[in-house]
Amino acid sequence: MSRVSYVNGRYLPHDQAEIHIDDRGYQFGDGIYEVVTVINGKLADLEWHLDRLNYSLTEMGIPMPMSRAALKIVIRNMIRMNRITYGLVYFQITRGVMRRDHAYNALMTPQLVMTAKSMPKVRHQEMAAVKVITVPDQRWQRRDIKTLQLLPNCMAKTKAVEAGAYEAWMVDGDGFVTEGSSSNAWIVTAEGELITRPATFDILSGITRKAVIAMAEQRNLKIVERPFTPAEALEATEAFVTSATSLVTPVGELDGTRIGDGDSGPVANALRLAYYEFINRQAAE
Ligand code: PDD
Repeated sequence: MSRVSYVNGRYLPHDQAEIHIDDRGYQFGDGIYEVVTVINGKLADLEWHLDRLNYSLTEMGIPMPMSRAALKIVIRNMIRMNRITYGLVYFQITRGVMRRDHAYNALMTPQLVMTAKSMPKVRHQEMAAVKVITVPDQRWQRRDIKTLQLLPNCMAKTKAVEAGAYEAWMVDGDGFVTEGSSSNAWIVTAEGELITRPATFDILSGITRKAVIAMAEQRNLKIVERPFTPAEALEATEAFVTSATSLVTPVGELDGTRIGDGDSGPVANALRLAYYEFINRQAAE
């Protein structure tokens, strides 16, 4: 069967999956989303993703379109119908459809769409380090909400791609890295400390970040949640990014200058494999 997508209760061929042009997600980015990785048929940290979905909805004042249990059934159906063993599930909830007006009312019907796609298994194994560039962080002040409003992120990522890099680290007005355009940013100091920015309103509290913190703690690695500068990253022995799509991806170069020996380092490699194995051991969803 060809690719199936979900729109408000219906499973449709992907090219027939459509939403209304007055959907506020389309007009205003008025909605939220989640991306969950699928490893060997298992949904990585699904419960944490659903917790964050609830948080984003609550902060935006959008009701859940269905119960958590029903949402899990739709997610599992999508994995089954699209035959995903390794890949991603994407779901977004918008505030609803109404004639265009900036002001919204509380009684709208939220709209849920979902897609799923396969990805090569190779991304879950050890990998070569990637390049990162820095760009100014031009986003709003509630980056903890996983909203659809990703234009600054898209512009940052496009700059990275144009520069032959994998990711762009966004830098705040005080000169500190906030996070990547679609990932959290980490460095490892010469003292072996793992540094990553605290999960305040300034960044998205990544699910992979949270899982990696737990995994690093199990290995007795010291984690310090504090902001760091690009200059400090260049002094680091290692750097890496975390996200549902990147898992733990080592960073070997920042703005054209090597970090460490420019290749993937032992900490990033160990955490990447540990995370992969941790998900793979989870009971089948
Ligand atoms: N992005 N920071 C930003 C700005 C992100 O967009 C993401 C994820 C993360 C990492 O969060 P998590 O570990 O929960 O994936 C951090 C997803 C993958 C995306 O937009 O496709």
